[in-house]
Amino acid sequence: ASEDADCQRRIIAAKEKLGKRLVILGHHYQNETVYRHADFTGDSLKLSRYCETLDAEYIVFLGVHFMAEVADILSRPDQIAILPDLAAGCSMADMANLAKVERSYRELSKVLNFDETITPVTYINSAADLKAFCGEHGGIVCTSTNAPKILEWSFKQREKVLFFPDQNLGRWSGYKMGIPLDEMPIWDPDQPMGGLTEEQIKKAKILLWKGHCAVHQMFRLQNITKFRAEHPDGIVISHPEAPFEVCQNSDYVGSTEYILKTVSEAPANTKWLVGTELNLVNRLAEQMKPQGKLVQFMSHVVCECSTMARIDPQHLAWVLENLVDGNVVNQIKVPAHEAKLAKLTLDRMLAAS
Ligand code: 13P
Ligand code: SF4
Repeated sequence: ASEDADCQRRIIAAKEKLGKRLVILGHHYQNETVYRHADFTGDSLKLSRYCETLDAEYIVFLGVHFMAEVADILSRPDQIAILPDLAAGCSMADMANLAKVERSYRELSKVLNFDETITPVTYINSAADLKAFCGEHGGIVCTSTNAPKILEWSFKQREKVLFFPDQNLGRWSGYKMGIPLDEMPIWDPDQPMGGLTEEQIKKAKILLWKGHCAVHQMFRLQNITKFRAEHPDGIVISHPEAPFEVCQNSDYVGSTEYILKTVSEAPANTKWLVGTELNLVNRLAEQMKPQGKLVQFMSHVVCECSTMARIDPQHLAWVLENLVDGNVVNQIKVPAHEAKLAKLTLDRMLAAS
């Protein structure tokens, strides 16, 4: 415990020494032990917007790899993005990679003219080279906040969408737009022709990449049914990365920022079942206690984002003390040619949302 307290003191001391040269951005899923040091907190969209406006020399990201890449892409060239542990990736983002997306492009090009027919849409939870692919092929990025708006934009460009890597976000957003489920088949990049027939591809409005978030995938309809039986007046709110039937049976569905806002602004003494990452839910439950609100986590299984959890006080203290000593460690630098195309797609997103 004294080691932890020492680490906290080291972080505070290094932050003080770096002053305005440093800004720390924290995603809502981060553990309290590091989250408390963030200068700005938010969901993916809000944090991306901050990156465009910051003046600090160093941007330390309490989040996962793709978020630090976005910080690098959207900040000025002289600013430095840092991820305290390089192993903090996103397992969902890893479910799509450039080789697989390019193979899908070639496969789909056998049955239709991809560049005239399909808008590639990548969830912000993806590597920079996939954002660059979208930039090159008239596509766009979305977040969990703006996905429906971005799909609307996409359908104005071309008749179909290839949506990666999260099938759940794609399906839920398409469903909210009124697209029938049989026009949103799963595209399995590991199968010839995505495992679909030519007829299915031609009929499809959205091809849903076979990817998902291991954390949100754990939520079940039974969790909701049990909660509603115990609390008939209870309210259910979920992140759109949750399975379709969970979203369908929730009262509200939205991004992490939306969840925080909705529950925080709700009347006192209301009861909530929340389907998103554990750290966020625990923090919210604590904050809502004085108002008599019950905030319950959706699963009986511990659903923590294990890669976010790699960003711990030890790593944070280590990168900050190195900065104080004039050493940059764990910089995230997207290659210039990729960054340029990726920025194009991110700018398209920021303009459309
Ligand atoms: P938000 O955009 O809601 O912050 O979601 C990011 C994420 O990784 C959810 O798993
Ligand atoms: Fe990726 Fe899921 Fe973690 Fe979000 S919660 S960062 S989607 S693994």
